[in-house]
Amino acid sequence: MTIKAMYVQPGGGLDRVTLGTCDSSTPQAGEITVRIRASSLNYHDYAVVSGMWAPPVPRIPMSDGAGEVIAVGGGVTGFAIGDHVVSTFFPTWLDGEPEIESMETVPGDGIDGFARQQVTMPATAFTRAPKGYSHAEAATLTCAGLTAWRALMVDGPLKPGETVLVQGTGGVSIFALQFARMAGATVIATSSSDEKLARLEALGADHLINYRKDENWGDSVRRLTGGRGVDHVIEVGGPSTLAQSLVAARIGGHVAVIGILSGVTATLPLLSALTRQLRLQGLVVGSRHHQMDMIRAIDATGLRPIIDRHFMLEEIVQAFRYQETNRHFGKICLDI
Ligand SMILES: NC(=O)c1ccc[n+]([C@@H]2O[C@H](COP(=O)([O-])OP(=O)(O)OC[C@H]3O[C@@H](n4cnc5c(N)ncnc54)[C@H](OP(=O)(O)O)[C@@H]3O)[C@@H](O)[C@H]2O)c1
Repeated sequence: MTIKAMYVQPGGGLDRVTLGTCDSSTPQAGEITVRIRASSLNYHDYAVVSGMWAPPVPRIPMSDGAGEVIAVGGGVTGFAIGDHVVSTFFPTWLDGEPEIESMETVPGDGIDGFARQQVTMPATAFTRAPKGYSHAEAATLTCAGLTAWRALMVDGPLKPGETVLVQGTGGVSIFALQFARMAGATVIATSSSDEKLARLEALGADHLINYRKDENWGDSVRRLTGGRGVDHVIEVGGPSTLAQSLVAARIGGHVAVIGILSGVTATLPLLSALTRQLRLQGLVVGSRHHQMDMIRAIDATGLRPIIDRHFMLEEIVQAFRYQETNRHFGKICLDI
């Protein structure tokens, strides 16, 4: 049986994405076959597809995939046919300390991803999806959801009553807002848009800052916290936000170094970092174990992801063009 798949060409380029087919295989021992029903867009996928981090060979893009199990290989105990599952970002990082530096094992980058109808992989490359989630909702968790979860709950670790700064209204930042509120934290949120700030307030953000109108928003964050600064910063902007993030953090605070939205090389104000004894913690998503912990918390609290818009798999280029505009609020999903 051949199945439908989208391909990025070597060198990348949104205008060079093609629709093709790929083979499906019968699951061997330890593997499952999943009918992929949804994926979601991340900046990382955009970098692969647009050519910033283009693959050297034709590649099926997308790191996030969710769907239902349609076949189970020998020895698999955790899954049965019909189960709803969601992929993991690092299929080989199951538990323990991070050991993987490269994207060689990441679906949609080093190996083929989930912009296709069906996939056969080791069962450990998936976890079960949260109870009651649609496939699209589940597909928002692999990269954006788990990154926010790990930054706050694993690396933080966040305590009730602490204060979190989230930047912009992309997938990672909105999940971070939701997880922070879930854990009883105060949230300060920034955005380029007043209309988006109103939506952040409706989601529970306690304080709002338009970073276009307020260049020195780090000082504003300090004022909002009585001069103390925030306990955790979800730093996604990169060079254009890092210096203000350091101003915004409290003495001894945690800056989760996550994003590169404005570039990959920033100037680090060393005096500020060391005199204020800040902890800058780089991270790339998380392990399968982290994902299972996150899903347990989602089941317990009923948290639902914010999905801005759905596109069909064949509309993947339009979906990335929409992401380029930064008009989205939360996640953009592909229905497959
Ligand atoms: N380290 C990791 O494990 C990891 C995992 C996931 C993502 N990331 C990175 O985190 C970043 C965000 O990813 P995402 O998937 O959430 O992206 P996204 O959904 O595309 O988010 C984009 C949003 O961020 C805001 N933004 C854009 N440029 C900005 C800037 N210069 N300063 C502040 N905010 C800006 C905008 O919100 P407003 O319109 O509201 O201003 C924009 O809508 C990306 O760089 C991505 O590569 C890293």
